[in-house]
Amino acid sequence: MSFSNDLLKWYDQNRRDLPWRGAQDPYRIWLSEIMLQQTQTETVKGYYARFLERFPTVQALAAADEDAVLKLWEGLGDYSRDRKLHAAAKKVSYEYGGSFPADAAGLRRLPGVGPYAANAIASIAYGEPVPALDGNQARVLSRVLAWEEEIKTPFDLLAPATEMMDKARPGDYNQALMDLGATICVPKSPRCGDCPVADHCQAYREDAAMDFPLKPAPVAKKEQDWTILLVTVDGRLLTRRRPKGLLGGLYEFVAIEGRFPDGESIAAALTERGFTNPRVTERLPDAKHVFTHLVWHMQGWRATCDAAPEGYVPVDVNELSKLAFPSALRIYREAAIR
Ligand code: ADE
Repeated sequence: MSFSNDLLKWYDQNRRDLPWRGAQDPYRIWLSEIMLQQTQTETVKGYYARFLERFPTVQALAAADEDAVLKLWEGLGDYSRDRKLHAAAKKVSYEYGGSFPADAAGLRRLPGVGPYAANAIASIAYGEPVPALDGNQARVLSRVLAWEEEIKTPFDLLAPATEMMDKARPGDYNQALMDLGATICVPKSPRCGDCPVADHCQAYREDAAMDFPLKPAPVAKKEQDWTILLVTVDGRLLTRRRPKGLLGGLYEFVAIEGRFPDGESIAAALTERGFTNPRVTERLPDAKHVFTHLVWHMQGWRATCDAAPEGYVPVDVNELSKLAFPSALRIYREAAIR
């Protein structure tokens, strides 16, 4: 038997009993898919029933008051989804005479309907053979195919996904993959022993289900050297608020990009930046901080000077704990307090 036959046979016996299953009315299918986009199946069940009771047709939803729709949506999250839902209902009612577009391409023109939802709705409501490719379907297929390329978007798998579909029962096929992905081919510990399509699964044959989908190659982080300076003027420590951007709004000490071999070269760099008569007094420990896209390698020093250039705020060391510093600078802040 083929992949899709085995999958559908399993689905026919094991499908999850969900309230939108079996519906042919595109309104109901559309509503369920929009609700399911970012909300768990169990949560959607109750909302779906209440919504349909209050708005049994697309015309009823279109004619509803915005606040009434929002009220029923409350708790589902992402309220832009709710506004788009209402806008799409109006479009269908007032521009399309109450009929939903009859294929995936048309459905995509409705607010809030992306390529995944369009394909899900078109396959379930109209039997259009288009794969409902989301992260779940992509995970399952990447395992079945032992897909050796990085998947940037689930639609990277469009060609094989379309070819593998059951063309006679596209809606059931898509929903079978959803159920398989939700109950068996789960992300962390796939239950390959219970899988109805294990015989067709290349990753299973290689005992490598967990190797798929391929993890994206880690992005190379930019590395920066910083010289962090605890500079005092008249016994008070120079600080500055960081401008917008990385760690924006937090406080920092005097910092010069780059690393310097000795106190003398640092004093020269400080003079160049407008510090009057700088003296570098002590070396502090090195530190490293790893951000998502960036690594700071820091060397610390203590220094003193007679006057600082504009922009620095001298603070009493005892007041330092009242200012918010990034954790990247923790050891220098501790050194300053000591
Ligand atoms: N998630 C998104 N669409 C779904 C559907 N039709 N059935 C089950 N889970 C889903």
